[in-house]
Amino acid sequence: MHSLANKHILLGVTGSIAAYKAAELVRRLREGGAEVRVVLSAGGAEFVTPLTFQALSANPVHSELLDTEAEAAMGHIELARWADAVVVAPASANVIARLAQGRADDLLAAVCLATEAPVAVAPAMNQQMWANAATQDNLQRLRERGMHQFGPAEGDQACGETGLGRMLEATDIARHTAGLFDTGALAGLRVLVTAGPTQEAIDPVRYLSNRSSGRMGYAVAQAAAEAGARVTLVSGPTALPTPPRVARIDVRSAQDMHEAVQEQAGGADIFIATAAVADYRPAAPAEKKIKKTTDTLSLELVRNPDILAGVAALPGGPFTVGFAAETENLLAYARDKLARKGLDMIAANRVGGGLGFEAEENALSVIDANGVTELPQAAKSQLARRLIVLIAKHFRRRLG
Ligand code: C5P
Repeated sequence: MHSLANKHILLGVTGSIAAYKAAELVRRLREGGAEVRVVLSAGGAEFVTPLTFQALSANPVHSELLDTEAEAAMGHIELARWADAVVVAPASANVIARLAQGRADDLLAAVCLATEAPVAVAPAMNQQMWANAATQDNLQRLRERGMHQFGPAEGDQACGETGLGRMLEATDIARHTAGLFDTGALAGLRVLVTAGPTQEAIDPVRYLSNRSSGRMGYAVAQAAAEAGARVTLVSGPTALPTPPRVARIDVRSAQDMHEAVQEQAGGADIFIATAAVADYRPAAPAEKKIKKTTDTLSLELVRNPDILAGVAALPGGPFTVGFAAETENLLAYARDKLARKGLDMIAANRVGGGLGFEAEENALSVIDANGVTELPQAAKSQLARRLIVLIAKHFRRRLG
């Protein structure tokens, strides 16, 4: 269940007696490391109260599509964007029919229409309703559109009948939910990622650094691990936890990062440089703390090695992916960097205007020799997964 770590799971609870199992599901998802928000349909609220889900998820429960207060806090579009996956459990015959029709007349249906995240339904209904051709046709349509289906199971039903239609147990749904993130696109490959800022010592207590949070790089490392790669993350100082199944090497300065990367790069198939490496470092860091004895103080700076260009220049080196954070002329600067550093691919993002270093969301223009692919604004974790899919595709294409 490693793949649930740091994931945003939107759980839709609809009208079925199995709604009580959804309470347990919230706990299982959170145990796996996910953050959970619950959308409770009017039918679902007949079986379990919002308070139950609010207490278990530690988040307010969402139910109304047209509630100005709730919409102001987190409307259906924000919820749709927030979600890394939407799981409808239990999914009644009614909600399955409504999703198949593409309706947007309650909050859950609207979120399912508006999200780019994977959507899964865990059907729960009487065995006759399950067997009905209408239900089967509806599910067929949903599967054809790429929706995932977890279950149902066979067994005793609340109505006293026995057959197919029981919702899967919470642990199974949580496991399937984790499986949504395990793509296998990079199975068997070794991926090296740099992330975070670097710190360039001025004296023993001071340094030059930048605003990089490391979030994008950590999300990329996690997405690569979920895609089946063996991932090494060379990280500057950040406050972030190491993603599951990722080997992390901590460094401070650009030179340390350069050395660590040079050591690791030979064994890597893919190198993704998301670190915001300081271009310059103080030429001669003071050995003792600098005292404020003069009115002005000059620091002489010297250039740091370009870690990414160094890896791209290695004979038979890995597939190299750079990042380019720019405030203007995004594509032109990024194309120039791609060529100048000899990269296979570059992901360009605009910084400023609420996007970039310290933001939760980002948008990327991904450029390689064949052109540009736009990855529109989304949470960094979602963007990272889309980027990994692109990298896997282009890496395999290069292999021929
Ligand atoms: O040249 P610029 O710093 O804009 O290039 C950004 C890209 O190069 C990023 O992928 C960054 O991680 C990488 N880089 C590097 N070593 C440097 C400077 C940048 O690996 N010294």
